Amino acid sequence: MLIDKKTKHMKAGVLASGRGSNLQALLNAAKTGSLGVRFVGVGSDNAEAEALGRAEQAGVPTRAFPLALFSSRQEQERAVMFWFEELEAELLILAGYMRILSERFIRDIGCPIINIHPALLPSFPGLNAQRQALTAGVRYSGCTVHYVDAGTDTGPIILQQIVPVYEEDTEETLAERILQEEHLLLPEAVRLIAAGKVRLEGRRVRIEREA
Ligand code: GAR
Repeated sequence: MLIDKKTKHMKAGVLASGRGSNLQALLNAAKTGSLGVRFVGVGSDNAEAEALGRAEQAGVPTRAFPLALFSSRQEQERAVMFWFEELEAELLILAGYMRILSERFIRDIGCPIINIHPALLPSFPGLNAQRQALTAGVRYSGCTVHYVDAGTDTGPIILQQIVPVYEEDTEETLAERILQEEHLLLPEAVRLIAAGKVRLEGRRVRIEREA
């Protein structure tokens, strides 16, 4: 694993499509120096994404890749990939990125990609995970950080956090309760990866215990 020589921090890129509260949690954690990563760029498929403003505020380079500016989805992905290659990203974090990345992108980008999902995978992959949990009537849901593979939210699981589901929950109240945990879980996963504590054995993620 390459480490940025000057800061000894791993170079991380982020893709986010919207509000960017998970990105903010990462930026806040990075500010304390405890995360072990330096954010080299935040990209979005949405030029209006609040996430881009949050990154600018933190002095992190941003770029928008709206699909409408490209002749195809493949071209858009190529542009995203070139940008992160230029930035020498060693880890790509999907923090509310609402597009499925192609198999080719995942194979060619040359660094691990992780994603945060608002459910306990493998339950409720894809869109509207909180609505899926309410419809299924589960008593517990939560959030998952996983490596991205070619499937939709099917990659090896790194960390999960359980959240209770209450009778009176709406999609919004459940989403908010899960989000609070996402803001802790994603920085923790990034910290463990940057510290070299996470390794993949087949589909199982092994995390080295810390003293
Ligand atoms: C988060 O709840 C994240 O888990 C979810 O979108 C929200 C983004 O919020 N991601 C997915 O559903 C991906 N399938 P944020 O923009 O405030 O971080």
